Amino acid sequence: MRAAVVGAGPSGFYAADQLLKGGFEVDLLDKLPTPFGLVRAGVAPDHPKIKSVTRVYDKTAQDPRFSFFGGVELGADVSRDELLERYHAVVYAVGTASDNRLGIAGEELAGVHAATDFVGWYNGHPAHAHHRFDLAAERAVVIGNGNVAIDVARMLMLAAEEVAPTDTADHAIAALAGSAVREVVLLGRRGPAQAAFTNPELRELGELARADVVVDPADAAPDPASAAWLASDATDRTARSNVEILGAYAQRPAPARSHRVVLRFLRSPVELLGDDRGHVRGLRVAVNRIEAGPDGGLRAVATGEEEVIPCGLVLRSIGYRGEPLSGVPFDDRRGLIANVDGRVVDPAGTPRRGEYAVGWIKRGPSGVIGTNKKCAAATVERILEDRDAGRLPSAPAVDRDATAGWLRERVPGLVTWAGWEALDAHETAAGRPHGRPRVKVVRVADMQALIRAAVPEPAG
Ligand SMILES: Cc1cc2nc3c(=O)[nH]c(=O)nc-3n(C[C@H](O)[C@H](O)[C@H](O)COP(=O)(O)OP(=O)(O)OC[C@H]3O[C@@H](n4cnc5c(N)ncnc54)[C@H](O)[C@@H]3O)c2cc1C
Ligand SMILES: NC(=O)c1ccc[n+]([C@@H]2O[C@H](COP(=O)([O-])OP(=O)(O)OC[C@H]3O[C@@H](n4cnc5c(N)ncnc54)[C@H](OP(=O)(O)O)[C@@H]3O)[C@@H](O)[C@H]2O)c1
Repeated sequence: MRAAVVGAGPSGFYAADQLLKGGFEVDLLDKLPTPFGLVRAGVAPDHPKIKSVTRVYDKTAQDPRFSFFGGVELGADVSRDELLERYHAVVYAVGTASDNRLGIAGEELAGVHAATDFVGWYNGHPAHAHHRFDLAAERAVVIGNGNVAIDVARMLMLAAEEVAPTDTADHAIAALAGSAVREVVLLGRRGPAQAAFTNPELRELGELARADVVVDPADAAPDPASAAWLASDATDRTARSNVEILGAYAQRPAPARSHRVVLRFLRSPVELLGDDRGHVRGLRVAVNRIEAGPDGGLRAVATGEEEVIPCGLVLRSIGYRGEPLSGVPFDDRRGLIANVDGRVVDPAGTPRRGEYAVGWIKRGPSGVIGTNKKCAAATVERILEDRDAGRLPSAPAVDRDATAGWLRERVPGLVTWAGWEALDAHETAAGRPHGRPRVKVVRVADMQALIRAAVPEPAG
């Protein structure tokens, strides 16, 4: 039986691997010429060890029943119906490429960006490489208390000699080297006990070479509701340790380094303020307190007090969001493909024959790379159950070779695994003399030209 997996990020690779083990032939499609999703274009460049997970995906790609087709966008180059005509199962692993908005006045001002754009820019994602970030201001504010917020704060604070040996895109290395940003304010709408950071990432913030980490002791002490929660069985170890780490930061001596990351809590963005050039000059925030909500959750409630934080760059890092795919049921409230345990369902809740979801587009934009392995295994279990119960569409009209031919005809710049390996070899060779893991090619046309030169005839 044959499956198409759409999206070659971690969840797509884990699903492909499980499907191969389950006896399927697998075609893995991605809209980019390059595989690996956020491992290539999300994970911070100063965390190269994390990216070595791609070796596991390389192994999957060696299976003779596996094919990679890069440069194929579902919704633009091929449609859902066309895939369903050719495969017994179609698995959507497209991730959540968009971002949440604050929905406050001033969000359109120059100097206000989504962290999604900043992350894509420094990682050389072709769709984000053209962005420009004005790094002339002394203070930047990063809104949100998750690990992405920590990543972007850290990237803004690394010294040029720390960024240079990474696979940060060349345009970003140059821009960051000229950055005037000396202070990053990391802003949480709730308190230290509710921060979504994980412990190693929060600790790493306190180990930066040229930046101090600053926490006001008054901010670090949990409010009464949070203190009660931390003392109860309902709490988790991560939250407890985060509070301890932040408490220790609050005890540190006065900042002495050239740069600093200031963690501020209990502040909700209310309005972005502009100057007469239409550029952001400050962020008005409401001061909150923590209260137990009707569901028992601890929520932020405005006290009525407000403050203005002067700044010239604002990055909102308040979570990613999925985008609908044409013809595929979408849960607009959650920003996901409508699914029950990985089976795509129509609005009445009935499973759609042969359609499945995995990864962030199945469960939402949370969880580390490894989380997607379990998630993919669960979806593939459903596929195998459906196969065994005769619930998969029975006879796709075309076989493997015919499908490869169809894709080649449809997508002139189609990239096979051999093509990606050629690009990979080019990038890593370009990095070697400089002690860098790779020098990324960031324009799709340049990637395709390099691949064409190295692999003139794409091998299906
Ligand atoms: C900034 C950032 C940093 C992170 N850092 C870490 C970290 O250090 N460690 C860690 O464990 N986790 C990290 N994560 C989490 C991890 O990256 C995710 O758990 C994981 O990437 C989700 O996998 P996915 O396959 O669902 O989505 P993605 O990785 O987003 O992959 C989706 C793929 O689908 C493709 N695609 C999208 N639309 C289409 C379409 N229409 N047609 C064809 N292809 C399409 C995309 O090009 C992409 O390749 C980070 C996440 C972010 C956002
Ligand atoms: N090194 C790593 O392992 C690594 C690196 C990066 C990302 N990741 C993973 O990737 C996933 C996504 O990370 P993420 O940082 O994008 O998301 P996240 O962990 O969900 O954090 C989002 C943050 O945004 C805040 N927020 C949401 N809406 C807001 C609003 N309107 N105003 C102010 N704040 C708002 C949330 O606060 P509330 O809690 O109050 O809603 C939360 O602090 C996570 O699972 C993360 O662990 C891992």
